[in-house]
Amino acid sequence: MSVHSPDLLQSLAAQAGTPFWIYEAAVIRRRIADIKAITDAPNLQARYAMKACPATKVLQEMAAAGIWIDAVSGNEALRALRAGHPAGMEPPAICFTADVFRDNALPVVLEHGLLPNIGSPGMIGELHAAGYRGKISLRVNPGFGHGHVNSCDTGGPSSKHGIWHADVGVANAAAHDAGLSVAMLHAHIGSGAQFEELVDNLTRLTGEFAALIPQFPALEAVSLGGGIPHNYRNPEAPQPIGRLRDLFIAAQEKISRAAGRPLRLEIEPGRYYVAPACQLITRVTDVKHTRTNDKGRGATFAMVDAGFVDLIRPAMYGSWHGISVVGRETEAPEESVVVAGPLCESGDVFTRDEAELVQPRPLPSLTPGDLLSISDAGAYGYAMSSNYNSIGRAPQLWLEEDGSVTQISRRETIEDILKAETDERVGG
Ligand code: LLP
Repeated sequence: MSVHSPDLLQSLAAQAGTPFWIYEAAVIRRRIADIKAITDAPNLQARYAMKACPATKVLQEMAAAGIWIDAVSGNEALRALRAGHPAGMEPPAICFTADVFRDNALPVVLEHGLLPNIGSPGMIGELHAAGYRGKISLRVNPGFGHGHVNSCDTGGPSSKHGIWHADVGVANAAAHDAGLSVAMLHAHIGSGAQFEELVDNLTRLTGEFAALIPQFPALEAVSLGGGIPHNYRNPEAPQPIGRLRDLFIAAQEKISRAAGRPLRLEIEPGRYYVAPACQLITRVTDVKHTRTNDKGRGATFAMVDAGFVDLIRPAMYGSWHGISVVGRETEAPEESVVVAGPLCESGDVFTRDEAELVQPRPLPSLTPGDLLSISDAGAYGYAMSSNYNSIGRAPQLWLEEDGSVTQISRRETIEDILKAETDERVGG
């Protein structure tokens, strides 16, 4: 992330209104280069878990860099195709990973020849019934995992994801009977774990896959999933991801030895590519106070025009995002304030943690009209925004390396919010 010039942000706020998202192309490209560097060896392939940020601009950057896609819905796959990622299985540039085929997912997979990475054994029967014969991938729940919170831990007995490791042999036999061949084994065991946990888990996972591989004569690839963490509290700290290159090379060699032929090793980070590349800019509309009483301590509230309809991570997981006052980034903090949004929910607060609904943040003193920048909002930011309270999504702006700024999605209007409403009679 870099600090944008206050003049630029003021002028963008004047033109686009607040709140708005501003992406920085240079940061995305640096993060893409990091991932290319750790997968720059024979038979290593990176994908982008596009759920983190599915903007066409971002997908185009990935396509240009030769990064394949992990999509989770029919519409995500269609977005990737429209952004220029190729259809088909040679190579399987778009992998469809899900535990449920919903809406257009199955037809999109069939029509565009995408590699289905199934996370539930019953999906074998669904593919067969739909007339599919060919390659599949099995998503395995290896029984262990880690995430930054429990709901982002995707491996273990409490996880809904994947096929339990001891049931993989049965699923393989069912696939064989259904005319499907298992071309890939996959696991994603958590999102946003600590770096050391990730290294330990990926090493352990490689061993588990190596033990399974002899059962899969048609196997072409193994995917270790995503989960490379981003350091939200200290985004400028060097990321130790160089170590992962050695881990991936060793893993590729290990699985290839287990198979007796070269296999492809895949990874599919999402967050790492985009987290630091976007800031949510919001305006302070008021500063108000509650007073200490027998129910608790009083607080200073900076009311802002962004809410959890824009960035839900603090409200949903207690996630920490940096907050700075535009143009006053180096000023010493003067008081601790709660930064809260416009929604009709007490939990619409950006300064909180997993345990506390409000956790005041030290900031320079604020006055209405100040712009705040909420940082590291590129992953699971706009992607998880919603139309709760019918506010409409804020616009996304893209800062190019030459300094030009483009609006890549506009502010949603009442027509956008109402566009799916109909008065069609259904049935009888
Ligand atoms: N592959 C699969 C199959 C996944 O389910 C995910 C994320 C990824 C890859 C990418 O994980 P990443 O590299 O981004 O950690 N909304 C949460 C994160 C949910 C992640 C869901 N799956 C958050 O804001 O932290």
